[in-house]
Amino acid sequence: MLQLTPKLDERSKEALYHQLYRYIQGEMIAGRIPAYARLPSIRRLAEALGVSRTPVALAYDQLLAEGYVISKPRSGLFAAELEISNRTQVSERTSATPSPSRAYHASPTETVRYDFGYGSIDVHHFPWTKWRRLVNQCLLPENNRMLLYGDWQGEAELRRHIAEYLHQTRGVRCTPDQIVIGAGTYHSLDLLFQLIKREVTTLAIEAAVNDGVKSLVEQYPFTCIPIGLEEDGISIHDVIHSTAGAVYVTPSHQFPFGMTLSIGKRMKLLKWATEHSAYIIENDYDGEFRYGTRPIPSLQSLDESDRVIYLGTFSRALGPAFRLSYLVLPPSLLDRFWKKQHSYDQLASPILQKALLLFMQSGDFDRHMRKMRTLYHRKHDALLEALTTHFPSSANVIGAGSGLHVLLQPGNGMDEAELVRAAEHVGVKVYPTSVYALSSEWALPATVLLGFGGLAETEIRAGVGLLAEAFRGSD
Ligand SMILES: Cc1ncc(COP(=O)(O)O)c(C=O)c1O
Repeated sequence: MLQLTPKLDERSKEALYHQLYRYIQGEMIAGRIPAYARLPSIRRLAEALGVSRTPVALAYDQLLAEGYVISKPRSGLFAAELEISNRTQVSERTSATPSPSRAYHASPTETVRYDFGYGSIDVHHFPWTKWRRLVNQCLLPENNRMLLYGDWQGEAELRRHIAEYLHQTRGVRCTPDQIVIGAGTYHSLDLLFQLIKREVTTLAIEAAVNDGVKSLVEQYPFTCIPIGLEEDGISIHDVIHSTAGAVYVTPSHQFPFGMTLSIGKRMKLLKWATEHSAYIIENDYDGEFRYGTRPIPSLQSLDESDRVIYLGTFSRALGPAFRLSYLVLPPSLLDRFWKKQHSYDQLASPILQKALLLFMQSGDFDRHMRKMRTLYHRKHDALLEALTTHFPSSANVIGAGSGLHVLLQPGNGMDEAELVRAAEHVGVKVYPTSVYALSSEWALPATVLLGFGGLAETEIRAGVGLLAEAFRGSD
C-alpha cells in the first residue's frame, strides 16, 4: 500500500485539503508516486494523517477533476500516467436547426417561457448602481481624454489589473505588456490570426467549436485539421499527427461538449508544442466558473516555453454587452503586435475600459465575482438536481462542474431536431449541438445544450419539469 506522509500544518492559511492536494500532485510529478499506484482510501488516509475525512475527500476530488488520478469502479483511485517535461515544475505554480450562427443566443419570443440560452448571464445581480456611478465618473468633463482614441493595446492600468486577476484566478504568468485588450473573443482571435497567419499554415482545431470561431477560421487560408474529442479532452494522438503549427483548444470546459482537458494531456500538449515550436491557442472563455473543485490551472500557467497564447473574455463575468476580451501574447508575438503586423487599432471603448478599471481598483470586481460564482454554483446544482429528479437514469448529462451550460442526452429515441421542437412545444427553448461540429461525423447524437446563467433557480426547475414531460411525449 502506498505510503503518503505529507506535513500538514493546521495553523497554515492554506486549507488542509489544498496542502494535501499539493503534496500528492508534487509527489506524482516528481515520480515518487508512480503511474497506476493505488491511493489509500479516504478513511485510511484520514486515519493515518489524524484529520477528518473531508479534507482528504476534497483533495482527491481536485486531483480527480484535474486528471492526476483516475477512478476505477469498486477498486478506488489510481495515479494517472503523466508525461512531464523536465523543465516543468507544476507544483510550484499551481498554488498560485435554428440558424447555425449564434445558435447559442437566447431569442425570447412570446411563447417561450423558459429559455436555456447559452449566451445569457444573470442580469438581475449585476451591480447596476455601482456601474452607473462609474460610467458617470468617466464622463466628467475633466476626463475628456475618454472621448478620444485610447491606448491601442488597451488602457495600461487596466492591463495591470487584468494581469493580476489572471494570475490569482487562473495562474497565468504574464506582464501587463503582454496583454492586448480586445472587443470580444472574435476580435481578439482575428487579431491573433493576423499575427500568426504567415507563420502557421496548418491549424489544428477541436472537432466541435463555437460557430463564431468556425466562421473566423474559414476566413483565413489555414489548412484546418479537426481534432477528435475524448472524455478527457482533445485527442493528443490527433494533434501529434496533424503536423499543425498551432492548435485551438478550450481546455477548462470544452465548448460545446464540456469536458476538461486532463493534466496528463495538458503536459503532452505542451511537450508537443515545445518540440514542434507550435502554438497552443487557449480559449479560457468560462474558466473562472468552476463548482465543487478549485479552478484548474490554465495551460498558460504550465507553459515554460512561451508556446501558449491565452485568450479570455469579460462576457461571462460582466456581460457580453461590454465587448471586452483580452489576449496574453508570448514575447515573440508581442514583437509582431508592436510592429503592427495587424490591421486593428483598439476597438474596445476607452470609457468602458476605464469604468472597468475603477470597478477593479475598488475591489468591487472581486466581490462581484465571488457573488456570481456562488449564484451560478447554486443554479448549476439546481439544474443537475432537477435533471436527476425528472429524468430517468438512462438520460446522460455531459459537461457539468463548470461554466454556464451542460449538455443533455435524454436517450428517449428522439433525434436532435425532435428534441428542440418538443421542448418548444411546451414553451422551453433548448439548443442543438450538432451545429458546432466541424462535420457531421463529429456531432454527438441526439444532444441538446442547456445554458443556465440567465434563468432563476425556480425557472430552471420549472423548465426542466416541462422538458421532462415533453421528452416523455414520444414514448
Ligand atoms: C467558446 C467561446 N468563446 C468565447 C465566447 C464569448 O465570446 P465574446 O467574448 O465575443 O462574447 C463564447 C460565447 O458565446 C464561446 O462559446
